[in-house]
Amino acid sequence: GETITVADLAQKMSLKGGEVVKALFKMGVMATITQSIDHDTAALVTEELGHNVVRADAADVENVLLAHVENLDAEQSSRPPVVTIMGHVDHGKTSLLDYIRRTKIATGEAGGITQHIGAYHVETDKGIISFLDTPGHAAFSSMRSRGAKLTDIIVLVVAADDGVKPQTVEAVQHAKAAGVPLIVAINKIDKSEADPLRVKNELLEHEVVAEEFGGDTQFVELSAKTGQNIDGLLDAITLQAEFLELSAVADGRASGVVIESALDKGRGAVATVLVQQGELKKGDYLVCGVQYGRVRALFNEAGEQVESAGPSIPVQVLGLSGVPDAGDDFVVVEDERLAKDVAEQRDAQRRESRLVAQSGNRMEDIMAQI
Ligand code: GTP
Ligand code: MG
Repeated sequence: GETITVADLAQKMSLKGGEVVKALFKMGVMATITQSIDHDTAALVTEELGHNVVRADAADVENVLLAHVENLDAEQSSRPPVVTIMGHVDHGKTSLLDYIRRTKIATGEAGGITQHIGAYHVETDKGIISFLDTPGHAAFSSMRSRGAKLTDIIVLVVAADDGVKPQTVEAVQHAKAAGVPLIVAINKIDKSEADPLRVKNELLEHEVVAEEFGGDTQFVELSAKTGQNIDGLLDAITLQAEFLELSAVADGRASGVVIESALDKGRGAVATVLVQQGELKKGDYLVCGVQYGRVRALFNEAGEQVESAGPSIPVQVLGLSGVPDAGDDFVVVEDERLAKDVAEQRDAQRRESRLVAQSGNRMEDIMAQI
């Protein structure tokens, strides 16, 4: 197994070699400074001395990962946009996503209904568009808190018969803070009470200015119920995406983000991931949050097995050691051993930081009582 010299171990704890020798002696282990001790003994004496046992520090782990994302400097090519739908309660977000899903995704050979997965992509004659479901989802807040960006474009749904409401304003603020461009979908125009002009005027107050008013925000009037002008929305998204010149590395080891995850009775841990760089392939080894594994199978949103998935494409992954968290990143590495090592080190670090956070909280409790 692994060994470490007493001197090296002492250095890692910023202690004198003699102090470690003494602690070892108390544990019944006779060793000099230059001698090597095994991993278990090193762990025991480390804890004895009041230090945490972590096999590498955070920077080491992430550096190992970075070194393995070999494609960071590689040539970029254009990629599809990733779109999130936001808006006030009942304004038609789910209806819109469902309509697009129903009409634009060819179901699998079984001819069955598409499964409900947290993300899907559609192929239009102008290109591919990926949609993320369930905004406000854990993945988003987790990504947001890390400052990472999941979404390229936000489609803000506003019901034409109801106008701008608190969550509409919230979505505008979120888009502005995140620097993500908005497209406004004025929904429910099939209703007799629909008043699209009112929506445009109300949004003006929040500095979302329609092109016809001299601004740069695309507004699309549509109905998620009848399907009227849904194609107009897809066109608007494609146009916005072209303007953004989105790009990613198309080949090489994949990396990306977990959108949602679950433990499936028959299939084990199932993670829906969004590939952001490279190509995720069946048989790849990956680290996913604090989980790891070999990709046993990949499924698209139609429930069909696929061999691989490239940038901006959501895909279900089977074969992970456990269920990762939404918002976790994933990285393909060269072999299972490395995947396992990194996952375990991350796990240890996560536990440690949780411990630190907990004792911090307790301290605050005590302070609050004083
Ligand atoms: P939450 O998830 O609760 O925030 O709502 P949502 O934004 O997902 O709205 P949802 O799609 O559930 O739609 C709310 C209601 O509006 C439902 O009864 C839909 O059938 C109806 N609805 C959605 N879009 C349209 C539309 O274009 N026209 C009409 N007439 N009704 C619509
Ligand atoms: Mg909904």
